Amino acid sequence: MTLQFNDETFRGDYTYSNSSAAVRRFPFPFDRDSYMYSVNIEPHPGGPEGSPFEHAFDVDEHYVAEMRDRAITLAGDPLRCQSLPHMELAGWDLLELIMVSKARDYPALFSLARDGDRWHWTNRPLGIEQRFTFLDASTLPCGPMEYITRQAQGDFALLDAREGNLWMDAGMITSQADWSLDFDVGMNFFEWHAPVPKARGMGVFDKALKFLNAVTQEQSYRRLNWTMTVNPRLDTSPENYHKWGPEKRTVTPDNVGTKQFLRVELQSFWRLPRSNALAFPIRCYLASLADLCTQPKWGRRLHRVLRDLDPDLAEYKGFALNRAMIVDYLARHDDGAPTSPGIFPDR
Ligand code: HEM
Repeated sequence: MTLQFNDETFRGDYTYSNSSAAVRRFPFPFDRDSYMYSVNIEPHPGGPEGSPFEHAFDVDEHYVAEMRDRAITLAGDPLRCQSLPHMELAGWDLLELIMVSKARDYPALFSLARDGDRWHWTNRPLGIEQRFTFLDASTLPCGPMEYITRQAQGDFALLDAREGNLWMDAGMITSQADWSLDFDVGMNFFEWHAPVPKARGMGVFDKALKFLNAVTQEQSYRRLNWTMTVNPRLDTSPENYHKWGPEKRTVTPDNVGTKQFLRVELQSFWRLPRSNALAFPIRCYLASLADLCTQPKWGRRLHRVLRDLDPDLAEYKGFALNRAMIVDYLARHDDGAPTSPGIFPDR
């Protein structure tokens, strides 16, 4: 497989764009014409060839630019990457999982040679070559979690498993939908989910935690989550709200199609072998309304979902201000025809 990496930005002049191939493989999150929270978890990896679900960690045309954006965010705020002292082993587990998966799934881009604990990692897109001793942090330029997540798209939370709960004790979080690792670090599953409206009362989180506690090394899982973002910005953190919050007011009926993005998180769940921690990668995909509407099924469905969405969810997801404008734009792409089941576009 050959990949051309885009030279693009996720801030400032926002030159991010999706090729038509990237639009067609976008992980559209709605399998029906309405949406409410649910425990929407399924086995991962696996899915149609070429889809973002095919491999353990999807690498796409945005890889190099996303890694550059992460480095900028970290330079401005090192607390986006934190690991409590007892999480170093989980960091090594994650490094192993990502290196082994990428070398297996993208041999033209990555390779890993292992001779006992002496490892040799090559990352061709980023021009990195590293020999190191597995489990010896002094042989890497930084801690193992930071090292590997500077080379992997998406955010990563590492959850310590104890007392029947999960604890957010480490993470690399630079492309989050308005939550803060520095605020959440050390919290448990119910504490960090406290701001989510409606879901706790529906029993969603009790069921989800039970499920996650039973995840084994043999089978990993995924779910999709979504929100809306103005401009293709990865760093929509509370710390930088003053930079992106005011941009919501720049949306007009004329530019809403290209300025308003659907932000989809491909979240996956992995039990790690040595630490028994749970790895929670949160891979962010962005597509403008105009790009999504090139697939007629998605235009129709997105219109119906956003038109009928519970107002508390629109408020929580931060697009209540522009909801009417968004729905008006999408209405022009909804001819009232029925939509087929499932998330994939019609051929
Ligand atoms: C252990 C892995 C998980 C982590 C680290 C995690 C973390 C988070 C965080 C930090 C938020 C944002 C809360 C805020 O507003 O401050 C969130 C939102 C949410 N989480 Fe999780 N979560 C995990 C697993 C799950 C699972 C398995 C479910 C299944 C139902 C779930 C459902 C939700 C929902 C529905 C929201 C609201 C999202 C929205 O409407 O945009 N989470 N999660």
